[in-house]
Amino acid sequence: MDVLVINGPNLNTLGTREPEIYGFTTLAEIEAGLIAQGAGSGLAVDTFQSNHEGEIIDRLHAARDDGTRFVIINPGAFTHTSVAIRDAFAAVALPFCEVHISNVHARESFRQHSYLSDIAVGVMTGFGTYGYTMAMDFVIHTLQED
Ligand code: DQA
Repeated sequence: MDVLVINGPNLNTLGTREPEIYGFTTLAEIEAGLIAQGAGSGLAVDTFQSNHEGEIIDRLHAARDDGTRFVIINPGAFTHTSVAIRDAFAAVALPFCEVHISNVHARESFRQHSYLSDIAVGVMTGFGTYGYTMAMDFVIHTLQED
């Protein structure tokens, strides 16, 4: 596949989780939209969600050999804690966009540091679930230039 979309812990509960912050769109709806968006430009999109740090790292390692050309990731709370996911991105050397539904800079101070942002191609934060669409639009644009 061309694009791998990873969602981290608690994002499987989108739709009912703190809707005043994250809205009412479910993860299944987001993933279906991204698959259709990619397909519209001839790109194959795979999706993966896990509440477990090690599973996300294993999926990233697999991405090194499965044809993945770009990763879109919302790491959830692992954004703010995980040196291990950062090291996994460095190990596989795949370009990635970091997405957050909420504006993490407008929230608690512990959300304002990311272990990933400085090695990401770019970060979308605060645009709601539309941030995933914007990230995919960027990825399509980038891969079509290759
Ligand atoms: C989030 C922001 C994180 O701080 C939080 O832990 C999440 C979701 C977002 O999409 O806004 O789980 O990544």
